[in-house]
Amino acid sequence: MFAARSASSILGRRAFSTTARLDSKVAVLGAAGGIGQPLSLLLKLNPRVTDLALYDIKGGPGVAADVSHINTKSKVKGYAPDAAGIKECLTGAEIVVIPAGVPRKPGMTRDDLFNTNASIVRDLAKACADHCPKANILIIANPVNSTVPITAEVFKSKGVYDPKRLFGVTTLDVVRASRFISELKNTDPAQEAILVVGGHSGATIVPVLSQAGHNLEGSERDAYVNRVQFGGDEVVKAKDGAGSATLSMAMAGARFTESLLKAAQGEKGVIEPSFVDSPLYKDQGVEYFASNVELGPNGVEKIHPVGKVTEYEQGLLDVCLKDLKGNISKGVKFVKENP
Ligand code: NAI
Repeated sequence: MFAARSASSILGRRAFSTTARLDSKVAVLGAAGGIGQPLSLLLKLNPRVTDLALYDIKGGPGVAADVSHINTKSKVKGYAPDAAGIKECLTGAEIVVIPAGVPRKPGMTRDDLFNTNASIVRDLAKACADHCPKANILIIANPVNSTVPITAEVFKSKGVYDPKRLFGVTTLDVVRASRFISELKNTDPAQEAILVVGGHSGATIVPVLSQAGHNLEGSERDAYVNRVQFGGDEVVKAKDGAGSATLSMAMAGARFTESLLKAAQGEKGVIEPSFVDSPLYKDQGVEYFASNVELGPNGVEKIHPVGKVTEYEQGLLDVCLKDLKGNISKGVKFVKENP
């Protein structure tokens, strides 16, 4: 997926649309972190990215100098951790990916990160609203169920909120769901596309296995769902205090970025599940929800409904919606109380 493309595929891309954008500046905020570094590497390998702007409170220019030696065409620049640095980094960005923030340690839930990461994301969102209000903003920093509403509230407060441009990156849940089912069914994980809906933490992560034509029963089904919901804990535990998923997350973040760029450059039918401002459950007071989202030149093109689910999956969804509501209002409240 991230292999360099042939000349014919590049020509094919140009033929897609006469209005296709060929300059794509992608900014990574938190570029020197566990996710930020491999993500920056993967973005440097992506020929759709023409400018890679790397910012971190520590070490952005170092990562930039390193990846800039890779012999792909894009320009890479690292920025100083100050107001001028972030302004220059964000100006002209089409996509901003935000993996800045602290990761979990064993025993922590994503919600335990709220106190630290809420203000980091709020401040970075302010910078984005000021310097690149029309960019697509991709939130990786946890807890995503709350950091996405935080970002939305900041954009609203500055009068520049566009719900089509804000995405909580839940791709890793989809990647895990596909990998884990392939282990059970002995299939090719790259060909599996398991829909995962809801949010991005514990019980809010709802794999909809039935729509992929797979059937698991009883304890095997429960174990599978639990593994998708708490797959991140496997990594946190194995890293033993050194952080959470970084390499698989970088792959997932790079995949989502690639999908957005494809859609911006005119490709049709690009669909990725993502946690977005969604009409699906607003009547139940849930403002943001992850489901399949068709991407287009303006960000969100179409939000797909969850579709047919089994009774068991509906039970998971009911729990998810209750938890999500609390996570979302916590983010909204944070910005109202700490503008
Ligand atoms: P890390 O600690 O290795 O890296 C975070 C980076 O952010 C550091 O380089 C730090 O200097 C930087 N940073 C902190 N405050 C900043 C600010 N105000 N501006 C710019 N940079 C700043 O953490 P890691 O492992 O890269 O994880 C980052 C976040 O991603 C965590 O919140 C983690 O929970 C989340 N995550 C999300 C996943 C998802 O599926 N959405 C999966 C895995 C992790």
